[in-house]
Amino acid sequence: MVQEFEKISSVQGELELPGDKSISHRAVMFASMAEGESRIINLPNSEDVKSTKECFEALGVEFDETKEGLIVRGKGAGNFTEPFKPLYAGNSGTTTRLMSGFLIAQNFKSIITGDSSLSQRPMKRVVTPLTAMGGSITCSNNDTLPILIKPVEKINAIEYNLPVPSAQIKSAVLIAGLHSKGITSVIEKFQSRNHTEKMLDLKVEKTEKGIISYSSQVKYPIAKEYFIPSDISTAAFFIVLTLLSKNSSLLIKNVSLNETRTGYIEVLKKMGADISVENMGEKAGEEFGDVFVKYSSLTNVSIPDEIIPNIIDEIPILAVAGIFADGNFEIRNVSELRKKETDRIKAVCENLKLLQLNVEEFQDGFCVSGPSNDVKPEFQSYGDHRIAMAFGILAMLLPHGGKIKGFECVKISNPRFLQQVKKVIK
Ligand code: S3P
Repeated sequence: MVQEFEKISSVQGELELPGDKSISHRAVMFASMAEGESRIINLPNSEDVKSTKECFEALGVEFDETKEGLIVRGKGAGNFTEPFKPLYAGNSGTTTRLMSGFLIAQNFKSIITGDSSLSQRPMKRVVTPLTAMGGSITCSNNDTLPILIKPVEKINAIEYNLPVPSAQIKSAVLIAGLHSKGITSVIEKFQSRNHTEKMLDLKVEKTEKGIISYSSQVKYPIAKEYFIPSDISTAAFFIVLTLLSKNSSLLIKNVSLNETRTGYIEVLKKMGADISVENMGEKAGEEFGDVFVKYSSLTNVSIPDEIIPNIIDEIPILAVAGIFADGNFEIRNVSELRKKETDRIKAVCENLKLLQLNVEEFQDGFCVSGPSNDVKPEFQSYGDHRIAMAFGILAMLLPHGGKIKGFECVKISNPRFLQQVKKVIK
C-alpha cells in the first residue's frame, strides 16, 4: 500500500498510544511461564506481540480477552505441551530470541520460523551462549532461521560477556538462567534496555567490568498483574512531528519512561527541544508519565557511544529531526542498525537521497546535511515499521508532502498510526 501525506500546518491535542512493545513481549512470556492466572492491562494489538502470544498458545497457554485486560492462564515450569508444528515468530526478533532462552529448557523438541525479513536476521548471537549453557540449539549455516531446539537433561549457569550490545541476547541468557540451579550473569559495557531485569526483579550491579545482571531459579516468574505503559518508541514519531511543526504542542499520556529507553529524549533536549514530563508513576518496576512537547528550534549535537543501545530504535526518527536542525546530523558506531527488520542505515540513506540532501553512508553510520530540494518524494518502507513511520513523519513536514511505499508494515508495532495522526494534526 502506498500512503500519501500532505504537509501539515500544526499538531495540537492529546494522545494515548498503544502499550510498549518490549514490555508487552515480556509480560506475555512471563505470565505464560508462571503457574496460574495473570492479568495484562493495555496489551497492544500489534503483529509482533501477537506473534509471542500465538507461540505460547501453541505450547498450551490459554488467553482470555476481557474488559479488564488479557487474562493469561500460565502453565508453570515443566508443564508446557509440545507444539505440533513450528512456532512462527512472524517479523519479531524479540519473540525469536527471548523464546529461544525459554525453549532450550523445555522437555520437548521445537522449531522457530519467521517471515522473510526475520529469516535473514542473525541468530548465532543467541545460539552461541545458549549452547554454552548446555542447550541443544542450532540455526542454519547462514546464521539464520529456522532455529531447531532439542530437549537436554539440564541447563547450566554461565557468566556471559555480551559481544554486541543487545537486550535480546541478554534477555535470552537471563531467561535460560531461570531454569538452572546456579547463578547466571550477563555483563554488558553500555546498558541496553533492562525490562527483563526489572520485570523479574533481577539483581543488577554496576562494576568495573561493566553492568552485570544475574538470574537463577529463584527468580522464575509468578502469576501477577502487569500494566503496559504507552510505547516510548512509538511516542518518538509524534514528539518529533510536534517539535518540527510551528505553533504546535502535544500531550502524550502514560508513556513508558524506563531510563534505558529515554535516551532519545535526552538527545532531543540537548538539541534544544522543549519536552517536559508530568505525573510520574510506577507499576511492576516500570516507570511512566505524561510527556508534554512544544515546537522548538533544534541544533544537531554529537551523540555519545554509551547512549547508542538506549536510542537504537529511534535513530531513523532522530535522523529526520536532524535534517531540520542546524548543522549536520552524524551518527557512528551503529552497525547494529544493519541487523534490524531491514538494514536501517541503508534504508535511511537511500530515502534521504531522494531529497537530494548530501548523504554519506559509512559501514557503521551516516552523515547528512541539507538543504533539501523542493521535491515530492516516494519513500520506501523496506517492509520496516520504524522506517515507514519515520518517513511518514518526514513527508508531513515537506512543502509538497510525500508518499511511502509498503506503509502497511506499521501494523508490526502500531496498527492505529494513521488514526492517531488524524486525531492531532491541523
Ligand atoms: C528489543 C531490543 C532491541 C530493539 C528491539 C526490541 C527488546 O534489539 O531493537 O526493537 O525488546 O529486547 P537488540 O537487543 O537486538 O538491540
